This record gives sequence, structure tokens and C-alpha cells, in this order.
Amino acid sequence: MRKYPVGKSIRTKRAELLNPFWKILYSYISHVDREGEVTFLNYGYADDKKLKLQKEDEKNRYPIQLYHHVVQSVPLKGLDVLEVGCGRGGGTSYIARYLAPNSIKGFDLCRKAIDFCNRYYSIERLSFCCADALNIPYTNDNFDAVINVESSHRYSNMERFLDEVHRILKPGGYFLFADLRDRESVESLRKQLSSSKLKIVKEEIITRHVLNALDLDHERRIKLINKLAPKVLHWLTKEFAGTKETGLYKALAAKKKEYLHYVMRKN
Ligand SMILES: C[S@@+](CC[C@H](N)C(=O)[O-])C[C@H]1O[C@@H](n2cnc3c(N)ncnc32)[C@H](O)[C@@H]1O
Repeated sequence: MRKYPVGKSIRTKRAELLNPFWKILYSYISHVDREGEVTFLNYGYADDKKLKLQKEDEKNRYPIQLYHHVVQSVPLKGLDVLEVGCGRGGGTSYIARYLAPNSIKGFDLCRKAIDFCNRYYSIERLSFCCADALNIPYTNDNFDAVINVESSHRYSNMERFLDEVHRILKPGGYFLFADLRDRESVESLRKQLSSSKLKIVKEEIITRHVLNALDLDHERRIKLINKLAPKVLHWLTKEFAGTKETGLYKALAAKKKEYLHYVMRKN
């Protein structure tokens, strides 16, 4: 069994200190957005291909394209799929509606986001629950694929999360992952992934495509902020949404942060 370090690193402590702050913001979105205008909480993806979408999904094109890019190398048709850190369920719903898995479950730490998902979506073989990525409430060898999009940077123990993913995947199952890290943490993420029990099948830096999406999606994000957030919180919600001129946007543009995509497999 893997041993976890007893003393906490500065990074772990910082993540834990910031956690309540982000949790408040995630809950706040569910408080103000009762109509479901915000169903994705990621920065999106844009390359030279244009994903074919139904009319009602067009407004979420770039966040959906991120999901599409993350899962596209594994045909999910007929598989049992789990999304960890599903947020407001936009990605889970996209996979359920477009990619025909046998079943798909999504879970998130944020109770209000899960309450929203349970109210908002009614799709056969799609379900949601509230849980922690570090203590996944499913038995061993349960899923053909586990998806994790832009959530792991908030986890206080990445090694433990990867052990949990390995435990609940069936042999031969896939871990489909994307997230961002500070430049100086990219190497440590690589080490965490390569020293886990999962095998790396594909590794890709997609920062350029995420930035491209933020450019193309800028107006929509600003409109949503103006509509849903009080003026006093605009600077914070812009930072959270990664609109142009924010620290987050500039850090991606200067490659002080990188956005990474991995496909991993359980032997
Ligand atoms: C930036 S959002 C991304 C949500 C979704 N994947 C998407 O792309 O729209 C990050 C999500 O991770 C969730 N999260 C953070 N820590 C978590 C944990 N330990 N377990 C489960 N979910 C967690 C947050 O509540 C939040 O909904």
C-alpha cells in the first residue's frame, strides 16, 4: 500500500487555505444561477476543428470542446463512466447525450452544485452525488473510464487521488485527465502521474488551445459576469473565469501556467 507523507508541503497547506474561498465561489454560482446559464466551469478548448453541436449547446462550444478533446481518444459508447469534480454537470451531460455510454455518474465536493445537477438534468443512466475525490465512494474495479477536468489543482493530495482512480477503474480502464498547473509544478505533476499505478498512454500540453478558447469566449464570459455577479465581485469572478487582462489569462499567455492533458490506463 502507498504511504502518504506525514508532514504537509507548503503547496498542500496553501491549497487547503484557499479551498474554503473557492468553495464559497462555486456555491455562490449555484446560488445566483438557478436557470442553468453556467453549466461549465472550465476554460475551454479551441483548435482548427469545429465540433458538430446541437443548437442549444452552441453557447457552451468551447467548454464542451475541452471535454471532447479530453475523451476523444477512447470511444465511450457502451462503457461505464465516472466524472470526478463534475461541477455543474455540463460535461457529464454532454458525454451522456452525445457519446452513448452505458452509464455515467458525476460527483463533486460542492453540495450546491450537485443539488443543481439533480434538479436540472433528467437523462437516462446519468446520476450525480456529492463526494470527495480523495475518498471515492465506489467499490474496486467499477468503471471503464474516469474523467477529471480542471478539478485536481484543488486537491490536497494528488497521489491519494490517483490511487483512488486506480482502485475504482476496471483492469484496462482509462483515466482521462486535463488540468492546469504553475510552470514550476508541471514536473511534479508529471512525477505524480508517472509514479502512480496507472500507465501514461498520451501526454500533451494544450495551453495554446485553452488560451485560444478564452479569446473566442471572452464576450460571453463578460456578459455572464455582468448579469450574475454584483459589481463588487466583478474583479474576482473575471479572475475565476479567466477573461482577458486577468492574472490567470496573462499567466497562461506567458506560460507561467501550463494546461496539460493525459490519457492513462490501468493494466
Ligand atoms: C473549475 S471546476 C470544473 C468543473 C467541471 N469539471 C467543468 O469543467 O465544468 C472544479 C470543480 O472541482 C470540484 N472539486 C474541488 N475539489 C474537489 C474534491 N476534493 N472532490 C471532488 N470535487 C472537487 C469543485 O467543487 C469544482 O466544482
